[in-house]
Amino acid sequence: MKKSKSVYVCQNCGFRQSKWAGRCPECDGWNSMVEEAVRTETAKDRRAFAGDPGEPVPLGSVSADRGERIPSGMGEMDRVLGGGIVPGSLVLIGGDPGIGKSTLLLQLCGHISTKKPVLYVSGEESAGQIKMRAERLGVKSDTLLLYTETSVEMIIQKIADIKPAVVVIDSIQTMFTEAAGSAPGSVGQLRESAAILMQVSKKTGVPIFLVGHVTKEGAIAGPRVLEHIVDTVLYFEGDRDHFFRILRSVKNRFGSTHEMGVFEMRESGLTEVANPSEIFMSRNLDVPSGSVVTCILSGTRPILVEIQALVTGTSFGNPRRTAVGFDYNRLALLAAILQKRAGLVLDQEDIYVSAAGGVRVEDPGADLALAAAIVGSFQNRAARKSSMFVGEVGLGGELRPVSSLSLRVKEAARMGLKRAYVPKGSPLGDVGSSLEIIEVGHVGSLAELMF
Ligand code: TYD
Ligand code: MG
Repeated sequence: MKKSKSVYVCQNCGFRQSKWAGRCPECDGWNSMVEEAVRTETAKDRRAFAGDPGEPVPLGSVSADRGERIPSGMGEMDRVLGGGIVPGSLVLIGGDPGIGKSTLLLQLCGHISTKKPVLYVSGEESAGQIKMRAERLGVKSDTLLLYTETSVEMIIQKIADIKPAVVVIDSIQTMFTEAAGSAPGSVGQLRESAAILMQVSKKTGVPIFLVGHVTKEGAIAGPRVLEHIVDTVLYFEGDRDHFFRILRSVKNRFGSTHEMGVFEMRESGLTEVANPSEIFMSRNLDVPSGSVVTCILSGTRPILVEIQALVTGTSFGNPRRTAVGFDYNRLALLAAILQKRAGLVLDQEDIYVSAAGGVRVEDPGADLALAAAIVGSFQNRAARKSSMFVGEVGLGGELRPVSSLSLRVKEAARMGLKRAYVPKGSPLGDVGSSLEIIEVGHVGSLAELMF
């Protein structure tokens, strides 16, 4: 039987099968399966390209790739990358249109090009448009080379000729390679282009940044295919109406994925926010009910974040739960725990919660603050001024210790808070005496302690 030479690939999720289907069996997307030619690549082809002899070597004789990291010129960016740009790495930066990806990377190029040539490839904007942005940012350099091209083969050629310190590809969705037998813009093109660029970066040692567009659902188009290929995946987020932008890492082969970098978008580009606690905490001293402060850990850095809840009677049978910056299920779970273990009748109440400044709170240590915000809004009483709430809440309503509590308490003291509500029995070590420590054993006792 003749072997099939094509495969059908879902343009949403990258799922592949040999037969066409109207609906992708993996992600249930309609009309997303597109035929692509199968490229038969032999092991020899790949070796010739990657240039390694392919012999197993003893671990002991391998020298660790501890090459110098290249500073990006932005401390916040270096932090997220795990200490600077790793030579030969492929980094994907995803984010909504207009969030500032091109701005961030142009600033990075501006900094690095003061020492070495940098190649900025744009498939979206003309050199003139980029020049206009560069003028706004005050970036001017004769070693920042702009290249408006979409052919991966041409770009590889230029990388070999110029040997730049860093390459930026803005964006990977606009790139086209002859190696993929599929239409421009398809997942096949995306995967093939990224795979080729990965080999180029590994072979030449030149770090490459890819800009990736995000789909309506908030994932980088063809997300699985790209995330598997690249070394590091960063998301650039934030409310477009807010000025703050957060750079988060969701995958990093060279560092922690818990770090986040905070920037502010100004007239003259992105500036770093070195003290994020200041912006995510309200400076308003008359705190309304349902507004409390917690401390989340971002990598090793503690950041104070204001959490707000609004609890109001529902007008429909089904009470609403809406979470901005939190996992929706976590909110539903906490509401259920408060109802069952603390006697709060929430099943006729709508609950809205949000974290300030567009921060995404994933730290379970914020549970106690979320609970305190809900209790405060439900009772319509403001929590005691200058308090911080930290602790994980278990299903029984009990409080569990959190990691690095002393670091968080110190940050609260540094920011001038007066008391910290922490899980009972937490080892605190030496945190000084400037803060009153209030131990909470169970969510049921929160209402007695917090007002
Ligand atoms: P951009 O980097 O083009 O976004 P992306 O590449 O992610 O699509 O950023 C565009 C937005 O940033 C635009 O709405 C204007 C704003 N901006 C500033 O506020 N100040 C600046 O100095 C620059 C260059 C852009
Ligand atoms: Mg752009």
